Amino acid sequence: MLKGKHIVVGVTGGVAAYKACELVSRLSKQQATVEVMMTEAATSFVKPETFQALSRNQVVTGLFQSVKYWEIEHISLAQKTDAVIIAPATANIIGKIANGIADDFLSTMVMASTVPVVLAPAMNTQMYENPIFQRNMEVLKSHGYHFVDPCEGLLACGDIGKGKMAEPATLEDYLINLLIPKQDLAGYRILVTAGPTREEIDPVRYITNYSSGKMGYALAEMAKKRGAQVTLVTGPCQIPVPKVDEVVSVLSTKEMLQAVMSRYEEQDAVVKAAAVADYRPADRAAQKIKKQDDETISLALVKNPDILWELGKIKKDQVLVGFAAETENLVKHATSKIKHKNLDLIVANDLTLPGVGFDHDTNQVTLLFPDGRSQQIPMEEKTKIADSILNEVVHLLRQKHARK
Ligand SMILES: Cc1cc2nc3c(=O)[nH]c(=O)nc-3n(C[C@H](O)[C@H](O)[C@H](O)COP(=O)(O)O)c2cc1C
Repeated sequence: MLKGKHIVVGVTGGVAAYKACELVSRLSKQQATVEVMMTEAATSFVKPETFQALSRNQVVTGLFQSVKYWEIEHISLAQKTDAVIIAPATANIIGKIANGIADDFLSTMVMASTVPVVLAPAMNTQMYENPIFQRNMEVLKSHGYHFVDPCEGLLACGDIGKGKMAEPATLEDYLINLLIPKQDLAGYRILVTAGPTREEIDPVRYITNYSSGKMGYALAEMAKKRGAQVTLVTGPCQIPVPKVDEVVSVLSTKEMLQAVMSRYEEQDAVVKAAAVADYRPADRAAQKIKKQDDETISLALVKNPDILWELGKIKKDQVLVGFAAETENLVKHATSKIKHKNLDLIVANDLTLPGVGFDHDTNQVTLLFPDGRSQQIPMEEKTKIADSILNEVVHLLRQKHARK
């Protein structure tokens, strides 16, 4: 599947460097062009000759290794390659990349690179849990670097815990998914809503919520990658907007309702990941509300339209997916929404769990279906959660189209 792809495998100085041999072997068997670059520390674990034999290519071990390489190679390699994977990725290389340090061939090449970079951390649990390392990882994630999380197990240091590098087969699968996205949504039109809504109180104040838009944006991005024609209806968010077919920016719930309703008819699926405000101020003051002498002030709120319920009411063949973010009785509340809103699937997340819901890069959700089935999706990056949700959307779309 990776035939014709050009992949750079960076190997850094950890015991798991031996596993990089299997990764390189697997990628070579897939007929990818593999170029290995090792840090100096990595050469203490595995000899460059091993990688040279497995990749059938020259292995780079130093920035000034030879004129041939030093001349242009860290720039040209960065540009001609399809992806870079660093496995194992030490705490050191992750710290260097996160802080813009380019003091060897690998870190220089990564800095010059515009292609996807996948990092497979491997280290002792204390190193992994160190807040400085965690911060460096977060920095890189926010810049779009990919991480394949380490697993728990017996580590080389004798400890048992998180830090064991993901298996080479997992890394190979990750690269396949990254470089050859499935096109199973080709021909379908999907509308995704994302972010919070904003309900104005007066010209300078508003009511909103903590939604960052990350989950909805991940869904729109992954649906596009899988071939769908995607419309993203988004409330105000501070994160980069994914490249999709149409982006409609809205502020209030009423605006979102209007944007979704006017496009509903032509959609095959609607995924409502936005966190809309249930209530809005009864009156928006024309002028800034002045501070008064009273200790308290009351704000009258009125109910906003329930967009999902409106969509469910007039649903024809569309697949309708809702989200339920709850802080208590998650399954009970989410299940009642399925019936009430005529949904095909609800994605429930428990906001009380660490790393779940608003503003996190990760999420952990339960998928609930009208027939009572449920499926747990463990803590994952939001792009991976999005992919799992879209797998179900594909099933539902196929079922509906088979019935036609
Ligand atoms: C025996 C041994 C094993 C090591 N294993 C790891 C490891 O698994 N992960 C890690 O982050 N660092 C590990 N280190 C530390 C790194 O080798 C060290 O931080 C080095 O500077 C990394 O350089 P590099 O990132 O340029 O390869 C190990 C060091 C030794 C001596």
